[in-house]
Amino acid sequence: MQAIIGKVGDYLVRGCEKDDVPTVIRINGETLPEHYSDFFYYEILGEFPEAFLVAEVGGSIVGYVMARIEYGFSHLKRLGLSRKGHIVSVAVLEEHRGKGVGSILMEKAQEAMGARGATESYLEVRVSNDQAINLYQRLGYRTSGRLEAYYKDGEAALVMALPVGH
Ligand SMILES: CC(C)(COP(=O)(O)OP(=O)(O)OC[C@H]1O[C@@H](n2cnc3c(N)ncnc32)[C@H](O)[C@@H]1OP(=O)(O)O)[C@@H](O)C(=O)NCCC(=O)NCCS
Repeated sequence: MQAIIGKVGDYLVRGCEKDDVPTVIRINGETLPEHYSDFFYYEILGEFPEAFLVAEVGGSIVGYVMARIEYGFSHLKRLGLSRKGHIVSVAVLEEHRGKGVGSILMEKAQEAMGARGATESYLEVRVSNDQAINLYQRLGYRTSGRLEAYYKDGEAALVMALPVGH
């Protein structure tokens, strides 16, 4: 069993295990229009397990975050290349929202990025996703760009970024 690395109310945050991935895929299916192949989840779990986290209450998983480490141009006002943490997906089941679960998942993933030497965290979010944009802004993320027709249905994405690490 993975160690508990965070707590908010009755919710516990711990590392995702292989056996948890089907539940994560189900939560993704219920909460987001962006789905990935099963292989993709296991690949991310293998590459960066410290930032693939689940939140559970009473033994049931109710949310997850997953991220990867990349090397490329900074999304902050920095010149040149940076080691970046990319939040690939974060979601909390609707009946468990507004209780701090999304925030603690993001904060713990950001800590893991810093520990891997990343200097920033970044993500894409639908321009219409007010709940998520509010959460990211409250955590300190700032919009660094906009990608037109980023999603399959033609909606644009905001790119948001936050310094992490020391
Ligand atoms: C975005 C998402 C992950 C946020 O999860 P969440 O668990 O509701 O996040 P939090 O509870 O930490 O924060 C949500 C709100 O609850 C409030 N809140 C946080 N802790 C709280 C607490 N203990 N008691 C009451 N309210 C609280 C926060 O202030 C926050 O308000 P704000 O963001 O308007 O400022 C969730 O809405 C979701 O899964 N959406 C669908 C999937 C999605 O869009 N993912 C993002 C894709 S880019």
